[in-house]
Amino acid sequence: MKKRLLNRRQFLVALSASTVGALYLTRQAFEQPVTSSPSSDHYVSKEGLLDVSLDARYRSVNLAGREARLYSYNGSLPGPRLEVKPGDTVRIRFTNNLPDPTNLHYHGLHVSPSENADNAFLEVPPGETFTYEFTIPQNHPAGTFWYHPHRHGLVAKQVFGGLSGLLIVRGELDDIPEIQAAQEEFLVLKDFALGDDGHIQPPNRMERMMQGREGSLVTVNGSVNPNFSIPEGGLLRLRLLNASSSRFYRLMLQDHPLYLIATDGGALGEPVELKELLLTPGERAEVLIRGEREPGEYLLLNLPYDRSDMGMMGGGMMGGGMMGRSRSTSPDRSATLATLTYKDRVKSLPLPEQLIPVEALPEPQKVRRFTLGHGMAPGQGMAFTINGKTFNSERIDTQVRLNTVEDWEIANEGMMMGFDHPFHLHTNAFQVISRNGKSESYRGWKDTVPVPPGDVVRIRIPFKDFPGKAVYHCHILDHEDLGMMGVVKMQQLGQS
Ligand code: C2O
Ligand code: CU
Ligand code: CU
Repeated sequence: MKKRLLNRRQFLVALSASTVGALYLTRQAFEQPVTSSPSSDHYVSKEGLLDVSLDARYRSVNLAGREARLYSYNGSLPGPRLEVKPGDTVRIRFTNNLPDPTNLHYHGLHVSPSENADNAFLEVPPGETFTYEFTIPQNHPAGTFWYHPHRHGLVAKQVFGGLSGLLIVRGELDDIPEIQAAQEEFLVLKDFALGDDGHIQPPNRMERMMQGREGSLVTVNGSVNPNFSIPEGGLLRLRLLNASSSRFYRLMLQDHPLYLIATDGGALGEPVELKELLLTPGERAEVLIRGEREPGEYLLLNLPYDRSDMGMMGGGMMGGGMMGRSRSTSPDRSATLATLTYKDRVKSLPLPEQLIPVEALPEPQKVRRFTLGHGMAPGQGMAFTINGKTFNSERIDTQVRLNTVEDWEIANEGMMMGFDHPFHLHTNAFQVISRNGKSESYRGWKDTVPVPPGDVVRIRIPFKDFPGKAVYHCHILDHEDLGMMGVVKMQQLGQS
């Protein structure tokens, strides 16, 4: 079994290896024929077992109707959708055919963070195969989860290059009659930057060190503006994932409210009506749409979202002004993500009234504060920090006891130049208690929560089973790679 922690030297070695990798990539690209088109490949567990092989490699794929050279799992973009049930065993024979080390993380799953389970610390070297195996607990909530690489220092590059796939846990929520009768669609939102030659464009240094890399080719399931149908009179269920490394989506469907039924970690207690929905990197949401409007075409829009202070960097040094947050840089035009068209009248279907009750958590035994910041590090450019420190895989930043509840206050130091940071925790989902002291309007399970500059978000985490080491980090993957990640060690009382 290949398992190793990277010390600083190995990390540097790995970094220089990636430069060699870039050359190798170019050569390999010409040897690979176009092998696949955007695909909705999926695998469903059978008799309690999901047994699949995943192969990560750089190859030619069809992206948005053109030939592109990207990273993919099994040549599929997004990666194959995996579907399991509570109690299932998941076995993934993973082969790294990338030129760089990588690994797999199962974002949002409440499974062991150790050994060959959801272990963000291990690494699979180029050319090697590693078998992941873990069990989904019997009481695991149903929900929309995903998998992606998590090798520190290379995460943004590999995810932006195309690696990510959905991992669906089917359960209680799916058995609610109205939900079962709804038409289900999966929408993986992801942006790419392709050059004229179809290769990924490397991010510019500024972009990497500021808001994180973004590409102008915005896709849904690897396509530009795909079509989905709305059953007239019925319900459409969209499972949404933001698999972008840095891009935010502010979603709105023309003339239709969105009925939020699930957040990152699973179902809400009842549907919540929304006009629009912000989805930051790593977040998922499930919404219902009622086919109750005039039949026709409706656009799923991405409304402008101001990634604060981009104005200053993106050309507004003068215009936006140095004082205060400039809110002027995002394009002020909405972009179309997908088109939804009414089709086939169905027997009319009401919204479900009740979903799955969300447990109320007891008062915390402990309150901690995490301050998100950044600064220039001598000789290496921007560093992103949590409580003033950059990531070190061998340092334990936070020790928690199992079977306790903690509140974490995530504070984004709102400095003159601030960045939004979607804060993510592995292994245990949490509930957002308040933002700047104001309590949240509904209760739900999250594992990633946006924290804009100047904000303090209080989250409540039940640390349940699963001892071991896990991480928390910003899900703008360039920020994570540039240090904004910490290690939490979870243990039983009396264990050391
Ligand atoms: Cu989706 Cu630690 O990440
Ligand atoms: Cu994660
Ligand atoms: Cu960040």
